Amino acid sequence: MINNSATGIYIHVPFCLQKCSYCDFYSLPLQNGDSLEKYTKNLLREMEQQAANWENRQFSTVYMGGGTPSLLSPEQINIILTDLEHHLHILPQAEISLEANPATLNSDRLQELKSAGINRISLGVQSFRDEELKILGRIHGAQAAMEAVDDIIRAGFENFNLDLIYGIPGQTHDDWIYNLKMAVSCGPRHISTYLLQLDPCVALAQQIKAGKYKALSEDQEADMYYDALDCLINEGFHHYEISNFARPGYECKHNLIYWQAGEYLGLGPGAVSFRDGQRWMNKEIKSCPEITSQTDTVAVETLEIMNDRDRFVDAVVLGLRLTEGISRQQFMDRFGIDFYQEYHSIIEKFSREGILLADQDRICLSHRGYFLSNQLLAELL
Ligand SMILES: C[S@@+](CC[C@H](N)C(=O)[O-])C[C@H]1O[C@@H](n2cnc3c(N)ncnc32)[C@H](O)[C@@H]1O
Ligand code: SF4
Repeated sequence: MINNSATGIYIHVPFCLQKCSYCDFYSLPLQNGDSLEKYTKNLLREMEQQAANWENRQFSTVYMGGGTPSLLSPEQINIILTDLEHHLHILPQAEISLEANPATLNSDRLQELKSAGINRISLGVQSFRDEELKILGRIHGAQAAMEAVDDIIRAGFENFNLDLIYGIPGQTHDDWIYNLKMAVSCGPRHISTYLLQLDPCVALAQQIKAGKYKALSEDQEADMYYDALDCLINEGFHHYEISNFARPGYECKHNLIYWQAGEYLGLGPGAVSFRDGQRWMNKEIKSCPEITSQTDTVAVETLEIMNDRDRFVDAVVLGLRLTEGISRQQFMDRFGIDFYQEYHSIIEKFSREGILLADQDRICLSHRGYFLSNQLLAELL
């Protein structure tokens, strides 16, 4: 029997040209083209192994994330997508996204990526100001990001996203507004705005610790968050998730699967899969992805086995990230649990504090709640 609920595929491409000073995502410096060849071969092998377990699923999204998936050649991406369609049921109208770094794009490549079947580009711009890009350790300047946007548009991608980071040391309110306005002027269908988060081990955190840069205060960060809401909503974007804005109808279908606690198959060394209440990932994450032998079955590590209640809590916490919040009736139908009864005192407390809005059927975060949601989500967990 075909399972019709939206299911996604995430493909992790764990290579970058150079590590950015703020990033703690799992990725390796790209040594040479051989690594990408070996990676592609291993990915195809993993796909074949997984195919039988997912044959009754229809996939509505494929998301190539990283690392820097745009380091793969269009031919390699073509092979991966063709093989995927050969082994799994990818719906004809599926959203097929590729995360890209401006330094890896040009006009020809983008046209080839489009021919290979990519229909959505997510471009890591981060900032349109060279001083900020330098602090972030990016390998490109603002000009390269703008040229990449021109090439994306010229190649005929009408659906593209720009990633921006705010809260960069030294960034002022005016600098942030400039970045937001520049992003809007590029004509994207989607903008993600991420607060700079620094793991203590990354280079920028060490530089701040050593006094080279000064971190912004929480108040400054919160102001920038609300600046983004004002600016992007005014420009006609739909604020649909804490950090995400889209032209109506262009919300990222793949990420919606995560926030709606849907199921997904993860492929590649750092990818997580979720099905039937279980989360798992490949064991190779800590080692080099291209060294897995050509004959071994890819070993997986179970991360979490959830009972029905765990799945309910997970869906509440993820669903509250969406501005539409969560519906009491839908949760009753799906989990047989009434979250009003379950979380009565927490809902009352956070509604009183103006962090949650609740009516007969729905609860959702208030504008103030978006930036203060961590405490609420922790209490729900
Ligand atoms: C995998 S990267 C995108 C593609 C490509 N690797 C690039 O950076 O151009 C996903 C996005 O996560 C965001 N990101 C990564 N690390 C972050 C951090 N420490 N704080 C805030 N945002 C971060 C950036 O906006 C980045 O574009
Ligand atoms: S932000 Fe993107 S390019 Fe920079 S290190 Fe992280 S994954 Fe690589």
